[in-house]
Amino acid sequence: MMDEKKLRKILSDLPLGDIRYYSQTGSTNDMALAWATEGAPDFSLIVADEQTSGRGRSERIWLTPAGSALAFSVILHPTQVERDHMPLLSGLGALALTQVLKDHGLSAQIKWPNDVLIMGRKTAGILVEVVWMGNQVESAILGIGVNVLPVSVPLDSDVLFPATSIHSEGSKVDRLEFLHDLLAKLLVLRPKIGEKGFIQDWEEALAYKSETVHVWTEPSPEQSSESFTGIVRGLESDGALRLETSGGIRTIKFGELHLRPVK
Ligand code: BTN
Repeated sequence: MMDEKKLRKILSDLPLGDIRYYSQTGSTNDMALAWATEGAPDFSLIVADEQTSGRGRSERIWLTPAGSALAFSVILHPTQVERDHMPLLSGLGALALTQVLKDHGLSAQIKWPNDVLIMGRKTAGILVEVVWMGNQVESAILGIGVNVLPVSVPLDSDVLFPATSIHSEGSKVDRLEFLHDLLAKLLVLRPKIGEKGFIQDWEEALAYKSETVHVWTEPSPEQSSESFTGIVRGLESDGALRLETSGGIRTIKFGELHLRPVK
């Protein structure tokens, strides 16, 4: 269980919007999407101790057993600069995570666009969802799930990519302290969106740099599936992945896609 009083106290030094805590909910992203349309202030936070229908990208299930993980969503009312750089919001979450993990003694990498790996295993995932008002982004929901204790780690047989947790990798962080540090880092990095240094830091944290990966997209009504194999060379200023393929440099735009190392 998460102690709500302690949660509010530990976060009280941060300039957050409002906070809503649930000992159990379906998905914090769903709660955030609903709250965003009801006028939640910028940087409002929804935290759940347990999620019963947590969601990942590509409609995958994201498990959050009670007492073992961090599952939260931040509601952002994007500035104009952020609206111009929406794909970077996933990078914001991933970069904040790698930096805070480093502060807690763990080296982490970003499996582009937004999975966070420790020792090659996934320890956190990010799901950004957007509320539109006409053709303008009204709010963005930054949903973050972090495996903190080993019980939050799904079995290899249940996931497409092997997972781990912060405690399994040797850092016995306190969940609430980690949440505090992560939110503080998000607040520091958010104004850097659109700056060159933001992309450079994201690029520096990339997994599989100079290694060969396979990237494929999900088919959509507008576009059939695409597949590329190439060497990871870095990021473009819009957060697109730069791959060196046999046909030359390709840039892969952020979207519903998958990336795997080629052994
Ligand atoms: C992924 O790896 O595909 C993204 C996982 C995102 C999980 C988080 S947990 C908090 C928030 N609420 C959800 O339902 N999903 C995100």
